[in-house]
Amino acid sequence: MFTAAQLRIEDLSAEERAVYATLKPERLPQHVAIIMDGNGRWAGHRSQKRFFGHQQGASTVQLVTETAARIGLPWLTLYAFSLENNLRRPRAEVDFLMRLLKTYLEGNLQRMLDNNIRLRSIGRTHELPGDVQEKLRLVEQATAGNTGTTLTLALNYGGRSELVDAFRGLAAEMKQQQSAERITEEDIHRHLYTAGMPDPDLLIRSSGEMRLSNFLLWQIAYTEIYVTERLWPDFTGVHLLEAIADYQQRERRYGGLSDSVGEVEEDTEQIKIIAN
Ligand code: FPP
Repeated sequence: MFTAAQLRIEDLSAEERAVYATLKPERLPQHVAIIMDGNGRWAGHRSQKRFFGHQQGASTVQLVTETAARIGLPWLTLYAFSLENNLRRPRAEVDFLMRLLKTYLEGNLQRMLDNNIRLRSIGRTHELPGDVQEKLRLVEQATAGNTGTTLTLALNYGGRSELVDAFRGLAAEMKQQQSAERITEEDIHRHLYTAGMPDPDLLIRSSGEMRLSNFLLWQIAYTEIYVTERLWPDFTGVHLLEAIADYQQRERRYGGLSDSVGEVEEDTEQIKIIAN
């Protein structure tokens, strides 16, 4: 948990501070997840190759993460590379994304340490190139003791394959003991890549698409969704804070009733049900 001493509001930009001032710090989401989309379009609008957009997108990752760290956001999870990206994008683009990831990890380790950020990853990372895996391990180990924001990169990640992996783990465990009827939601949670993490309170998607793209399917059951037209390379800490401000206006009901509903009939026995 963040202590007040860990917050670095004074390090926010003037524009960020202005939005932060409108927030209720006690109602900060615990976990924000982001589908970072629009790198290719951003580059296209500038008559540049897609690679240029990805490069700019990687800088955005670091800036947004540092804003999250300054305001004391405990968990930030970014969809950096999906299983589908890996299978369906041209080899040259996949290779570039892998090199970019490696360079990002090398180039930002010191900044992560300076900002007390802990890096973790989820996904079938064992299928990533060996040198990327090695760099990931190195940065994860180097930042493991940090107590600020946990930045989780979803890499070679797919929500359905995460569930397959979880059920495989659960099936292996079940062979030794209990029967299927005794499986609980907690058992499934324990076998997800995100075991031990809270579910996201807020899911942000950049560049306007209204879909989930196979991201954290189990975990987002009650997550608030915020979609912005802004392309990922144009997204900044200010926009993260604006999304949080929007989230704080929402009323989360988890399938229950709003507090404003008032009195509810206690006895419904006498109410005639009309069949259509
Ligand atoms: C979508 O843009 C973005 C991705 C393929 C994943 C996000 C990747 C980055 C932000 C860069 C690298 C990240 C790290 C952590 C170093 P798109 O190509 O689908 O955009 P488009 O829909 O406009 O074509």
